[in-house]
Amino acid sequence: MSDIGDIGGIGDIGVGGGYETPAGLHAAIIMDGNGRWAVARGRSRMAGHEAGADAVRRTVEAAPGLGISVLTLFAFSSDNWKRPPAEVGALMRLFRTFLAREARRCAERGVRIVVLGRRDRLPGGLVRTIEMAEAATSGAVSFLLRIAVDYSARDAILAAARRLDSLGANAEPLSRELFARLLAGPLPVPDVDLLVRTGGEKRLSDFLLWECAYAELVFTDRMWPDFGEADLAAAVAEFHHRERRFGAVPTPVAVSDDGTPGTFRGPFGASLSIL
Ligand code: FPP
Repeated sequence: MSDIGDIGGIGDIGVGGGYETPAGLHAAIIMDGNGRWAVARGRSRMAGHEAGADAVRRTVEAAPGLGISVLTLFAFSSDNWKRPPAEVGALMRLFRTFLAREARRCAERGVRIVVLGRRDRLPGGLVRTIEMAEAATSGAVSFLLRIAVDYSARDAILAAARRLDSLGANAEPLSRELFARLLAGPLPVPDVDLLVRTGGEKRLSDFLLWECAYAELVFTDRMWPDFGEADLAAAVAEFHHRERRFGAVPTPVAVSDDGTPGTFRGPFGASLSIL
């Protein structure tokens, strides 16, 4: 897909239908720190990105064993076009090489690849490789790897609003569910459970703003090229230690509508009282 109206979803994935609602976690990662990792070693920023690609492989291999079934990686933000052209060009080539190399291995291992974001500004060769990787892995159902390239959450939300507008009178009444479907495109996935950002910064940088509404946020000082299974396991462990209340409060402070103590059965069967 190359038109701005499709920037929110996965675009035309070529082959295959929807993705079955997975049982595991949806984890998302802002992979930061490649440049600093490289500079600290007296190497080029690009060497950091190449080491970052190795970390992507390690992370995808480790994720299923840690209870993750959807992994969304922020590889290139729509604001990253502001970087020097040489770095941008080298990153585009790295994405292409990675997808060309990994597609078959992913298909064999049951990993489906989809790429989020705009395609109309990407080099033609990369777009063709994305389409090849998506088609080659479209039958895989064990694990979903989503890679965000030229992605902006705000632009994705605007694109969903445009789709809603284009439905006009045919649209069902606007609801969170309808908007989430318009945002997700043809391959909906559950909201993000766990968002990890490496590299020491603590911000979302326009990544999955709608989908992270109730995500647990984990920030680590680890630079992305050093990230590995132990770091992902630590983030997942941290996630399991958090109490997810989705705006409610746990019993025993539950109070029913008439003000008397009572319980409410909330997400995952927990006893909750809505705030
Ligand atoms: C942020 O680090 C990282 C990026 C903008 C690029 C991410 C790319 C990779 C991890 C390469 C491999 C990815 C795939 C999908 C094959 P930075 O350069 O901003 O680091 P800095 O903050 O230390 O400068």
